[in-house]
Formats: sequence, structure tokens, C-alpha cells
Amino acid sequence: MTQSHPRISKAVIPAAGLGTRFLPATKATPKEMLPVVDKPAIQYVVEEAVSAGLDDVLMITGRNKRPLEDHFDRNYELESALQKKGDADRLAKVQESSDLATMHYVRQGDPKGLGHAVLCAAPHVGHEPFAVLLGDDLIDPRDPLLQRMVEVQEQRGGSVIALMEVAPEQIHLYGCAAVDPTDDGDVVKVHDLVEKPAAADAPSNYAIIGRYVLDPHIFDILRKTEPGRGGEIQLTDALQQLAADEKVGGPVHGVVFKGRRYDTGDRGDYLRAIVRLACEREDLGPDFRTWLRSYVAEEM
Ligand code: G1P
Repeated sequence: MTQSHPRISKAVIPAAGLGTRFLPATKATPKEMLPVVDKPAIQYVVEEAVSAGLDDVLMITGRNKRPLEDHFDRNYELESALQKKGDADRLAKVQESSDLATMHYVRQGDPKGLGHAVLCAAPHVGHEPFAVLLGDDLIDPRDPLLQRMVEVQEQRGGSVIALMEVAPEQIHLYGCAAVDPTDDGDVVKVHDLVEKPAAADAPSNYAIIGRYVLDPHIFDILRKTEPGRGGEIQLTDALQQLAADEKVGGPVHGVVFKGRRYDTGDRGDYLRAIVRLACEREDLGPDFRTWLRSYVAEEM
């Protein structure tokens, strides 16, 4: 691909899910607001978009998601209370999330699946390539993935998805890609995609993890995509069409990620993310590690 592409600046974050795996915590609180150490999970995701150069963020929300909007907005009452106390550190923490990015919100209304959520972004995105970041996937900030995907999209055009090799017994939890190697070690060409196949039917052990850089043609396809797995409009099904027919907005490439990723939508992985990130924090880590060592020694 030699044509020049517009610089990618928009990130879309679907956040309309009900978070039933975390009930009762998510009865009145969006799952995206659950803290990972002392920051809501969603803030890591917005920070990741911003570090990849995408500071226009559209969140696809739904009912009961007001706390998300409040979190990325100013809180004058709290700010002035902290100012009066002269607590500059905490004031900076409060202001950090509202200064991060230009935030936009649209409601999904009917929860008709991830593909439908992404389609809700069409009027905002327009005709540029854009990124989609799923809130349940937390990518360790030290292992940048999205930046690499943006770079690959700028070089090769089309769409780019994030892939990770998983154990065969895990593949039914993910979209799965059949791929061919390219001359870039971490980049593969995607020629087939299946949403959550049974292990026996999976074309590979490459799982889609929740980062996508998409060609805007995806919207035309999503408008015509019939409900697929689980009766939902699947983003994977629309991507499958892009991969199958390069004339409608393909190709689709995958960046193979080998870094640290946590599925914060899974309770076990959520706890692992908290322990790992807490251990590595300069302020909390030293004391926490000492306690953890002795706790493990006593318990095991
Ligand atoms: C979604 C996608 C799936 C992808 C996964 C990554 O599924 O449909 O293709 O592998 O995110 O986290 P969900 O986990 O929302 O059911």
C-alpha cells in the first residue's frame, strides 16, 4: 500500500455491557469503574489510547453508565476542597482523568452485540480509520500494543487486529483467526475469522484480544451483518468479510502480542491484575510484596 492514510486520532470504547460476572458489585456501579489498585479499569484503557496518540475518545455507553461520564469530567467540589487543604497530590489525581482526552459519549440503546456497539460510532468516526478498545482487556502499560497496530495500519492500510496465542481449550472464549506469516515477525495476514469456535473447529490458536484498528468500510458491512453467535451482531463476522474481500476495505492483518494482558472481566484475572500491578507500584509495592511473601509462605 503506497497511498497516504489519514492519521488515526479516534478511539472507540464499547462500555454498554451489564457486567453480570461481577454481581453484586456491578448492580449499581458500571463494571468499567471497578478499581484496579486505585484507578478504575476504564482509565487504563483511555490512557492506553492516549499514549498511542488517540486523544479523541468515544464511549459507547448505556443505562446506568453515568459514573463513567462523571469520572472523565471535572469535579469542582472535590477539587476546591483539596485546593483549600493544599493537597496537591490528590488534586492532581482528580484532575488527571478529566484532562486526559476529549471525551464523547453515545448510548447503544439496544444491547445487540459488539458489532452493533461499534456501528453506533459511525456518525462520530466518519470516513477515517479508527481504533476500538474493549474495556475488559487490560494491556500492561509497559507492553505497548496499540501503537504498533496503528503503525502497521499506516504501513499496510486496511484493518489490524490484535492476536494472542492461547491454549486450545481457551479458544472457545475468543474470536479466532486463521493466518499466514508476513515478512514482519510480529505481523500476520488474516484470511479467516470465526467467533468463539469449539476447540475442534478452531482454525488456529490465535485469539483476538480486544484491540482493533479498523477501516471505516466496516460500518457498511456492519449495517448488513446478520446476528451471529449468541444472536448478537458480531464484529468478528464483519471483519471476516473484510478479510475475505480486499476490495471492500481489506486487507486484515494481525499483530501478535506477546506482552502482559489481563481480562478484567474475569474475576480470577482481575485479582491477578491487581496483585501484579500493586507489586510493581513504587509507592505500594515494597510493603505489599513483603506482606504477600509472608502470606504465601503461611498459606502454602
Ligand atoms: C469479544 C469479541 C471476541 C474477542 C473478545 C476479546 O468477545 O467478540 O472476538 O476475542 O472480545 O476479549 P467478548 O469477550 O466480549 O464476549
